[in-house]
Amino acid sequence: AEDELDERIRAAKATLGEHVVVLGHFYQREEVIQHADYVGDSFQLANAALERPEAEAIVFCGVHFMAETADLLSRPEQAVILPNLAAGCSMADMADIDQVEDCWEQLADVLGPLDAADETGRVPVIPVTYMNSSAAIKGFVGRHGGIVCTSSNAETVLEWAFERGHRVLFFPDQHLGRNTAKAMGVPLEQMPMWNPRRPFGGSSAEQLVDSRVILWHGFCSVHRRFTVDQIEQARAEHPGVRVIVHPECPMEVVDAADEAGSTDYIRRAIDGATQPTTFAIGTEINLVRRLAAQYPQHEIFCLDPVVCPCSTMYRIHPGYLAWVLEELVAGRTPNRIQVASDVAAPARVALERMLAAKP
Ligand code: 13P
Ligand code: SF4
Repeated sequence: AEDELDERIRAAKATLGEHVVVLGHFYQREEVIQHADYVGDSFQLANAALERPEAEAIVFCGVHFMAETADLLSRPEQAVILPNLAAGCSMADMADIDQVEDCWEQLADVLGPLDAADETGRVPVIPVTYMNSSAAIKGFVGRHGGIVCTSSNAETVLEWAFERGHRVLFFPDQHLGRNTAKAMGVPLEQMPMWNPRRPFGGSSAEQLVDSRVILWHGFCSVHRRFTVDQIEQARAEHPGVRVIVHPECPMEVVDAADEAGSTDYIRRAIDGATQPTTFAIGTEINLVRRLAAQYPQHEIFCLDPVVCPCSTMYRIHPGYLAWVLEELVAGRTPNRIQVASDVAAPARVALERMLAAKP
């Protein structure tokens, strides 16, 4: 049945030719990736959508927030299609727009009017959202002078934000926020957490006033599984091992690793190794397995011995890819992701600030 699906996907793509572009995130399974015209991390794929302005359909093999981002950055005539609408991201769902609006109001009670700059030209707080968030959240950020970041440019984006504000409200991923700010020298005691389920985020007024980065209580269920014990075990069993983890991992894990970086950082680190090397990787299993197959001169394994796929990325089954491509051949546009225009305009502002902030 797999061969038959491959055949159907190939045939539909051949018929559609230049009219369609298929994008595949690094975490997609091999059966999907083999049909992708572009493979990359979330930042690269956002740019890939821009590189094919003539394609009428962009089939995004990734999760919902990535397809929304592609819709924001592509031409209005281009249809962005998510092969399975149930492919969300549990971390993105942890920051809901009502909770963020509520947090913003409560922060204003402590910090004063949030959009008013003082004599230094800076406002009390700049909101920064990780790419892994809904378009509604990106729109919120755009309306309040804020910006989007990905795991490959989080430090550059935080610098941008600190030039314009005394502190940052960072959501949804506490780990990326904490790991990035810590690497920039922000002390942990100046990073209170905002838990949307607790009154006042569970923080005191003093903590918020003294803060540099207010962290949202969100996390990735795949990356939080990695532990310091796994790193110690890898080092004991493989002397000389190079441990690289994604910055969505908890701080202790990032601190214990040799390096931390985005999915593309991990790929480039392996690609650049000139001597045969053992790599222990702390990120999603489909990417780790693909890298192990692509670089047989190295030994590459996942830190977590129990397979840890991103279950929502995995919802893009090749059967859905075949189905959407065949629908396109038939002149229909299934599973189109379209961000409402009132949200799209400010969300685009926040994304464009990020694209311009990139060094
Ligand atoms: P990248 O930005 O590194 O592609 O990561 C996206 C993601 O969802 C990681 O969990
Ligand atoms: Fe979301 Fe984590 Fe999956 Fe990335 S790996 S899409 S952050 S759930």
